[in-house]
Parts: sequence; structure tokens; C-alpha cells
Amino acid sequence: MTESDRKTTIDALFDAAGSVRERAHAPYSRFRVGAAVIDETGALHTGCNVENAAYPEGICAEAAAIAAMVAGGGRRIRAIAVIGSGPAMTTPCGGCRQRIREFADADTRILLHDPVTDARHSLSPEELLPLAFGPANLKDEIR
Ligand code: THU
Repeated sequence: MTESDRKTTIDALFDAAGSVRERAHAPYSRFRVGAAVIDETGALHTGCNVENAAYPEGICAEAAAIAAMVAGGGRRIRAIAVIGSGPAMTTPCGGCRQRIREFADADTRILLHDPVTDARHSLSPEELLPLAFGPANLKDEIR
């Protein structure tokens, strides 16, 4: 992939995350989030946060996008972009870091947007969730 292809893909991911954020159901927090995933086949999957009146039962945009990826047949996250609301950069919550870890490889990119500087940040899974507990931890488990 050329540098220009890479930029086009990243632009498309942020565009998709920004668009799906508009569909968020966030009447309680009023904090809309969109996430877009590119899987190992190059297919795009999106998700937004979906809250409900029993506040803790809502789901995050990243969880929704990952569920859409799995339901769509994707198995690995090549890259995921997240766009939230407000002045601070939206970063995945703890639970979503673990969800991303489940489907990430060492070269997966987690793409975030800082609305103040308009800068984009690209993190590795290890930067997002250091010393992660992951599928490999269970490999030799005696059950
Ligand atoms: N939220 C996400 O969807 N993703 C994040 O990365 C951070 C938080 C949602 C959960 C809740 O619906 C709202 O944002 C406020 O926490």
C-alpha cells in the first residue's frame, strides 16, 4: 500500500466514523461517538453508541463496530477510527480497549482525533492497552 493509499484509507475511516456518529442514540449522556473498522479483507464496518434508560446497559461505538465486523464475517481489525464529542480527544474506554485487543494484531492501528489541534493520532494495541491479557494467555490453560 502506498502512502497515498494509506491516507485515503485513513480519511475514509474518519469520514465513516464521523457519519455514523450522527446516528448515535445518546439522549442521556448527549455524548455521541462513532467508530469505523477496516477488517482483514478491507471491508468497512461502523458503529455508534446506543444508550438506554438503564444507563449502564448502553453500548459503546467501538463495541458496536466490532460486533458489526464479526457479524459481517471479519475476524481481524486492521484499523479502527473513533470520533467522539466535546473538546477533548475521545479515547476508547477500558472495556473497549480489551474488545479491540481481542481482534488486534501487532500492526493494527487505533486512530484517534484531537478536535482542538485537529491532529490525528495512531496508536498500537500495546500503546492502547499495555500488558494486556489476551487470547494467548488462555492457550495452555488446563480446563
Ligand atoms: N462512549 C463510546 O461509545 N466510546 C468511547 O470511546 C467513550 C465513551 C460512549 C458511552 C456512552 O454512551 C457515552 O459515550 C458517554 O460515556
